[in-house]
Amino acid sequence: MSNTAQIILDGKTYELPIIEGTERERAIDISKLRALTGGVTTIDPGYKNTGATESAITFLDGEKGILRYRGYSIEELAERSTFLEVAYLLIYGDLPNEEQLTTWKSDITLHTLVHEEIKNILDGFPSNAHPMGVLSSLISALTAFYPKSLDPNRSMDQVDLSIVRIIAKMPTIAAWAFKNEIGHPVNYPDNTLNYCENFIKMLFATPAEIYHVDPVLSNALNKLLILHADHEQNCSTSTVRIVGSSQASLYSSISAGISALWGPLHGGANQAVIEMLEEIKASGGDTKKYLDKAKDKNDPFRLMGFGHRVYKNFDPRATIIKKAADDVLNKLGVNDPVLEIARGLEEAALKDEYFISRKLYPNVDFYSGIIYRAMGIPTEMFTVMFTLGRLPGWIAQWKEMRENNEPIGRPRQIYTGHNSRPYMELGER
Ligand code: ACO
Repeated sequence: MSNTAQIILDGKTYELPIIEGTERERAIDISKLRALTGGVTTIDPGYKNTGATESAITFLDGEKGILRYRGYSIEELAERSTFLEVAYLLIYGDLPNEEQLTTWKSDITLHTLVHEEIKNILDGFPSNAHPMGVLSSLISALTAFYPKSLDPNRSMDQVDLSIVRIIAKMPTIAAWAFKNEIGHPVNYPDNTLNYCENFIKMLFATPAEIYHVDPVLSNALNKLLILHADHEQNCSTSTVRIVGSSQASLYSSISAGISALWGPLHGGANQAVIEMLEEIKASGGDTKKYLDKAKDKNDPFRLMGFGHRVYKNFDPRATIIKKAADDVLNKLGVNDPVLEIARGLEEAALKDEYFISRKLYPNVDFYSGIIYRAMGIPTEMFTVMFTLGRLPGWIAQWKEMRENNEPIGRPRQIYTGHNSRPYMELGER
């Protein structure tokens, strides 16, 4: 196979190198194109065909439905590993040995408390504030409490400390954002519990009763967090990388990633799916009406939880989550009618020519909301759960970008506005 590509422009041929990844993916390196051609650039709205970086973290093959973190299959990790092990794997490149894991867990446990003044900021939010907005603000606010984190070029020890702090404090802040919304007092972390148990307790315990964490909930959460932990250069991860490329701190880069994740076309889809299924249920379960709406180009409605920029066959995370949804609902003895609606909708869509021809399949978020609901997690917290899961992926990608000394992210454009024109005085406009 050739290791260069040729571009013929105005009769002149330019040779561009081809780079190849470890899974034989190939890309034309256009980084010198402008210099070679005297200013011609490329255009690709939505970056549908643009590789922004070389990365050794996550491999996915959208045609074959493969997803691997650092070489390990998502199926195996979801079945056998823990979220903190996977976080270590993503961030530091290998699964931790026993000693590394013990240190990693105890470092994280040591930092679960957040500064009491964070509570003052939390109190300033209206009680009905969406927890994603609260979370993004409070994560950004961490920069005020840890000013040394502002300089990502400081020692690696400082970067590692920022990493441990954000992984440790995110569950506390996320649970507090929820408590603020429902007007309950916040819970402090319980360091005798593991990561998922502690989060669930902070979320659900009240001063009125003794709370015991149901292992069905903590095991389900462990699996869901692993499944969401990284997904290479998606919208929020690219946001984290591009913000970090200006040498912004880890906390501010992650805060930006949270905002990007919030949108309904990305992480916000899990909330949108349940709202859609509820609406279908309220309409008497008329799935056909909603499939027709999704297919109608004059109607902005989309089938939420369906379709993916990269997966054009199936989303391997959706396969695992669909099975987990059955399992969790059975174990918890929950009979949720929206699960039936979801199954019916999926079955009908998968037989429909519109969805078949466009290769639209359920994505990770089609069934995740059903599990969260069965766990008693309110709808507006679903994207917060996704945030908890995606955190190690964002950190790993931010760290890789910094270690590779990547230049500041700054895309080009093709200008289509007015040509030069003289200023008009107010009375002449
Ligand atoms: N319902 C109906 N039609 C759809 C859907 C959908 N969910 N998704 C894509 N299409 C159609 C588009 O209208 C388009 O049709 P056309 O070729 O006739 O114009 C075609 O399929 C291709 O869709 P694009 O929007 O070009 O695909 P893109 O890769 O840009 O978008 C996305 C991917 C945003 C995920 C899209 O499928 C979508 O909006 N899905 C619903 C929201 C969702 O579930 N998001 C979560 C994604 S997973 C995640 O971020 C964790």
